[in-house]
Amino acid sequence: MENYHAVEVSLFGRGSIALLPPELKKRGVKRGLIITDEFLYKSGAAKRVGNRILEAGAEYAIYYLVQPNPTIEIVNECLHAAKTLQVDFLAAVGGGSAIDTAKAVSIVMANGGNVEDYEGVNKSSKKGIPIVAVNTTAGTGSEVTAFYIVTNPSEHSKMCMVDPNCMVSIAVNDVDFCMTMPKGLTAATGMDAMTHAIEAVLAKRAAPITDKDALWAITAIKDYLPLAFEDGSDVKAREMMSYAEYTAGMAFSNAGLGMVHAMAHAMGGMLNLPHGICNAVLLPYVMEFNGRLPGIGERFRRIAKALGLSGTEGLTGEREAEKCAEFIRSLSCRVGLPKNLQELKVEKWDFEALAETAMKDSCMQDNYQMPTKQQVIEVYHRALGIGDGVF
Ligand SMILES: [Fe+2]
Repeated sequence: MENYHAVEVSLFGRGSIALLPPELKKRGVKRGLIITDEFLYKSGAAKRVGNRILEAGAEYAIYYLVQPNPTIEIVNECLHAAKTLQVDFLAAVGGGSAIDTAKAVSIVMANGGNVEDYEGVNKSSKKGIPIVAVNTTAGTGSEVTAFYIVTNPSEHSKMCMVDPNCMVSIAVNDVDFCMTMPKGLTAATGMDAMTHAIEAVLAKRAAPITDKDALWAITAIKDYLPLAFEDGSDVKAREMMSYAEYTAGMAFSNAGLGMVHAMAHAMGGMLNLPHGICNAVLLPYVMEFNGRLPGIGERFRRIAKALGLSGTEGLTGEREAEKCAEFIRSLSCRVGLPKNLQELKVEKWDFEALAETAMKDSCMQDNYQMPTKQQVIEVYHRALGIGDGVF
């Protein structure tokens, strides 16, 4: 028995932003707040969305101070603007940071209280106010998921909210908004999507309907991420990455994530490191750890097949996981991402506190099997990349 959540409507393909005005009209919305960052505001991307809102006969204002790893303070500022302007919908223009900010604002607008009240699983009672999410990256999947993350600087942690009431109404994946994404962001968000897909296959709640999307996404990302990275103007590669991150998002939103995200959230909250890069570094080490869990071999066989690895038949689950991890390391390296935590300047005396935080992250419970705090510390040690830490 399972709940399967999806967004109301998704617009795909180059130029698909043109399909937004009729969708807005159908919903009868009148006043929107565009939530974006300074770069997308100055580049004119936010205004291009604003023009479509005007075309629908609605009006809009723009909040453009979203930062990576958005904090409670950013959410509150944005919430204040939304309440003062009495908006009836939000339009996020950006990647996970803008979309997650919109989700937090939407939930508090509809349910009252403070954003902190909604940390955890299914904490709101009412559906949030409508959100349009115009995705400008290809990775976070936030436009299709029931997850959002808000940084709590006073606790040096990230609050992870899992709540279908936050899901957007209209997801726009028009590659015209992704074409100028720089190489570093293409790589980091692409590896975030790969992590979503792999963790969805390894998650406790994985099911045939989530595997279908996750395994397809793994294949598409391994094929198209290097192409999108090498030539950002390759429309086909950008489009395929956009479909892949969307399907990976659908998979993990319904199956759950796992240890990589729990450990990466801790690093993002404590050390303010970029989410996709933390995932890319941790993913192979966590795969090697998970590969040793009893009964997980079949799942790694599926991942190996999706990665196009041959010659893995007859291997133990552990060896299969190592082969997959090796492939992920070489993919990360091909798209210029760091290999280990040492390159991210993470220090080993941070591990105790990081593991403490990671154990409390709601993603941790989704891992195929819940690790102990000591095991999490060991994985961090291994990920330092200096031969430290033994499983
Ligand atoms: Fe992620």
